Amino acid sequence: DRPVPAASTTDPAVHDSAFLRAARGEEVPHTPVWFMRQAGRSLPEYRKVRQGVAMLESCMRPDLVVEITMQPVRRYGVDAAIFFSDIVLPLKAVGVDLDIVPGVGPVVAKPVATLEDVAAIPDLTPGHVSFVTESVQRLVGELGATPLIGFAGAPFTVASYLVEGGPSKEHAKTKAMMFGAPDVWDALMRKIAGISAAYLQVQVDAGASAVQLFDSWAGAMAPADYRRYVMPYSSEVLAHAGTLGVPRIHFGVGTGELLGLMGEAGADVVGVDWRVPLDEGVRRVGGRVVQGNLDPSLVFAPTEVMLERAADVLERGRSAPGHIFNLGHGVMPSTDPDQLARLTDFVHEHSAR
Ligand code: CP3
Repeated sequence: DRPVPAASTTDPAVHDSAFLRAARGEEVPHTPVWFMRQAGRSLPEYRKVRQGVAMLESCMRPDLVVEITMQPVRRYGVDAAIFFSDIVLPLKAVGVDLDIVPGVGPVVAKPVATLEDVAAIPDLTPGHVSFVTESVQRLVGELGATPLIGFAGAPFTVASYLVEGGPSKEHAKTKAMMFGAPDVWDALMRKIAGISAAYLQVQVDAGASAVQLFDSWAGAMAPADYRRYVMPYSSEVLAHAGTLGVPRIHFGVGTGELLGLMGEAGADVVGVDWRVPLDEGVRRVGGRVVQGNLDPSLVFAPTEVMLERAADVLERGRSAPGHIFNLGHGVMPSTDPDQLARLTDFVHEHSAR
């Protein structure tokens, strides 16, 4: 008894794409490839259309969202597009006072500390993000057979920005709340889980055919604390996404010790960063489909070195029921797009069955 599939996944060309076949663990004509942060500052065409437009403003303009999301698809011929947005966009949309500061990241004007602060954050309704619905609908039309990945931030990673007020290495205030004010932590994590689940549903209802939950900073947690303070809320988001009938990808950085739990949280596909050999990652996620995991710095190595390592990743990925090739984290802004073009072609040719 599978849930009712989303409209886009009933398009047979999208449904049979290498990306969605791999995500379901089915045979593929070649290993699909896309890159986290494939749209963005590494592309001259991105820098051009973003001139004079602030990051969050660009996320709210369907013309720009469609153009920027399409740019890497046109340039590289990757097997999936990822919706151009940011993990803090839904918070902005419900009215949280925050901005994305160039070269810094998300900055929150009034960090969250109390139950009252949490209660002041509205739940997300589709009306808050009508520009997302419009952007996704237009994109799905332009993308044709290429699937669109919708995404949201996982509760822990989003909570870290809200509690710290900005980017953090140690997540000290976040952990102080988690360990010292569990009632506030629970309320905040539930609030974000609801927002992320609703935001994923908006994207799937509009035509996204897979979702990725980004828990980029989950690697800051020890496994027992992850299980108790983080996993239940990510599970809630993933369970809701599971009712939408699309594959769910769950990703974090530095999560070697958490991969088993991240799979158990309810993911169909687990993202593996470059610190864990991919075949070892496959063992840890318990036979799920994996995504990853070339070190994003390898694009700065000579092309033949990068491609040798890509071949190694492909080889190790063969032990999984399905493998989606990606970098172990996002494309760095100084990446030469020609390297990613060579990498995409190599993955397609080298893995052709
Ligand atoms: O992958 C894609 O192509 C889709 C676009 C995307 C963005 N943010 C665009 C963006 C995605 C998937 C995100 C998610 C996101 N945002 C995450 C999870 C993914 C990850 O990298 O781990 C996180 C942690 C954030 C928070 C955030 N937003 C950071 C850390 C930054 C970088 C700050 C900086 O300037 O270096 C942002 C800003 C941001 N999000 C940019 C882009 C293209 C750069 C801003 C710009 O181009 O002006």
